[in-house]
Order: sequence, then structure tokens, then C-alpha cells
Amino acid sequence: MLAFVDNLSPLIAERRILQPTRGLCLALGTLSPSICERDPMKSASQLVVFMHLLNAFSIDPSRASIYDPAFTLLDKHFLGSLGLHIPSSAKDISATLRLEEPTVVFLPYLPYPAIEQLFALNWDRATLSNLIIVGPKYEGWLDDE
Ligand SMILES: C[S@@+](CC[C@H](N)C(=O)[O-])C[C@H]1O[C@@H](n2cnc3c(N)ncnc32)[C@H](O)[C@@H]1O
Repeated sequence: MLAFVDNLSPLIAERRILQPTRGLCLALGTLSPSICERDPMKSASQLVVFMHLLNAFSIDPSRASIYDPAFTLLDKHFLGSLGLHIPSSAKDISATLRLEEPTVVFLPYLPYPAIEQLFALNWDRATLSNLIIVGPKYEGWLDDE
């Protein structure tokens, strides 16, 4: 995955897609082992990938946001200590999801309704092309439903 990230920046330049100047990660999951049935190492590895993505595009962490409703206070404290912006209020979350600049959006298994919300908030010519999505292959993204 890290090798893929390393190849992404040159690929984007080659295809003449705008280089992202901001980062966004949604659905990382909690890093706190005690409240988590899943393996929190999965989220930890995904965080490494996200930080590597920011680095690959020379995006300072202060220009990146990370959000998951499952974050604990400890998660927020730790992620904040990395310099990442963690939206808190509903207004702040909506503003964060509206992408005014080319943004590399890392979605490690974001549920469909939240994906729809992300697209709906950016569903116009000016902002849709700001989404540079890195994530799993979602079957049916192009379905009418
Ligand atoms: C299938 S889990 C993936 C967790 C982790 N990335 C993994 O691979 O194990 C989906 C995650 O999406 C989060 N989520 C749900 N709605 C969200 C939203 N609107 N914005 C961001 N994250 C959301 C959930 O809290 C959950 O942590």
C-alpha cells in the first residue's frame, strides 16, 4: 500500500489531475483497543497510510482533517497531537466535507450513506473535481440506486 502511495503523486501529475493541497480521512475507526471488537491495529495501519499520503503530496498535517464518529477523546487527543484537524460540531463537520480545494480523500471502508453525503455536499462542477479518492473498490458506485 505504501508503494502504491509513492506512485500516486507522479501518476496524478502525469494525468494532469490537480495536485491535492488538502487531506481528508473518514472512517478510520477508533485506535482504542479496550472499546473495540475489531483489531485497532487495522486503524493504526490505515493512519500510517493516511500520513504517508499527506507526505507524498507535501501536505502539512494542519491542512488535513480526520473524522469518525467512533473516535474517543483519547483518539482525538492523539490525532490532534499529530497536527490533524478534528472537526467537532455538526457545522464544522459539514464545512470539512465541502471540498473547496483539491483534496486527497482517504476512505478506509466508509459506509455508503456517508459516501453519498460526501458526494451530495460536493455535487457541483466547482467542487466535484476536487475529490481525489483513495479507498477500497466500492461495488456499485455507478449504480442508479
Ligand atoms: C467498516 S468500519 C471501518 C473501520 C476501519 N477503517 C477498518 O477498516 O476496520 C466503518 C467506520 O466508518 C465510521 N463512520 C460511519 N459514519 C461515518 C461518517 N459519516 N463519517 C466518518 N466516519 C463514519 C464508523 O464509525 C466506523 O468506524
